[in-house]
Amino acid sequence: MPTAILSALPEEQHGLREQLEEAMHVRHAGRDFHTGRWHGKPVVLALSRIGKVAAATTATALIERFGVRRIVFTGVAGGLHPDVRVGDTVIGTAFLQHDMDASPLFPRHEVPLYGRSRFAADEELVDLLAMAAGAVSTGVFDAATRARFSLGGMRIHKGLLVSGDRFVSAAHEALTLQRDLPEALAVDMEGAAVAQVCHDYAIPFAAVRNISDRADDTAHVDFPAYLSQVAGKQARALIGALLPLLD
Ligand code: ADE
Repeated sequence: MPTAILSALPEEQHGLREQLEEAMHVRHAGRDFHTGRWHGKPVVLALSRIGKVAAATTATALIERFGVRRIVFTGVAGGLHPDVRVGDTVIGTAFLQHDMDASPLFPRHEVPLYGRSRFAADEELVDLLAMAAGAVSTGVFDAATRARFSLGGMRIHKGLLVSGDRFVSAAHEALTLQRDLPEALAVDMEGAAVAQVCHDYAIPFAAVRNISDRADDTAHVDFPAYLSQVAGKQARALIGALLPLLD
């Protein structure tokens, strides 16, 4: 049974597809899936596209059509917690939809009829991602790239990742999220949706996100360049280090 590696955008997947041996392309549900082997391990690469619904559809297709045994999401996120800087890696241990609000019928952030607002990552996958991230956190980027994108210590964090159907690109919005969800390390647009699907199917899930911006007024400025020059390379190094650790 293959491992699914899910990315949101083509730039984030770019470095991954080059690694596939015995590569095959399958078009399904309006999406492109790339199957093959990497480090001898069967994998399926897919683009979630952007937003929670698109990501949930992709995750469902990976499980139903490709029978994947686990899903790993790799991509970028906007840093929320004051300790999380551009270039850092965040490994999600729990996932929450910051824009879920069925109050007063249900508490804010609770997913109706699930009795919970958070979906946990698979603990073993989190540990393996942390090992993989530790192995690659230095040395992937040259000095010029580090300077251009102000990549700092490229630290690794583990904790709460929040998702919503909004690219957060205003400081006041980021501050509101920090105030409402002080534990949240970073924000993306897909992770919590995939976590919910994996919960429904009892499939192990984990997500690792490279911090591309601080979800503030400058979040969009270097975003495309960051994707093409940093995120794809980081994802390739990290997943390349993860796969040999998987059974
Ligand atoms: N992914 C990367 N940066 C993001 C941001 N600022 N908001 C939502 N998703 C993101």
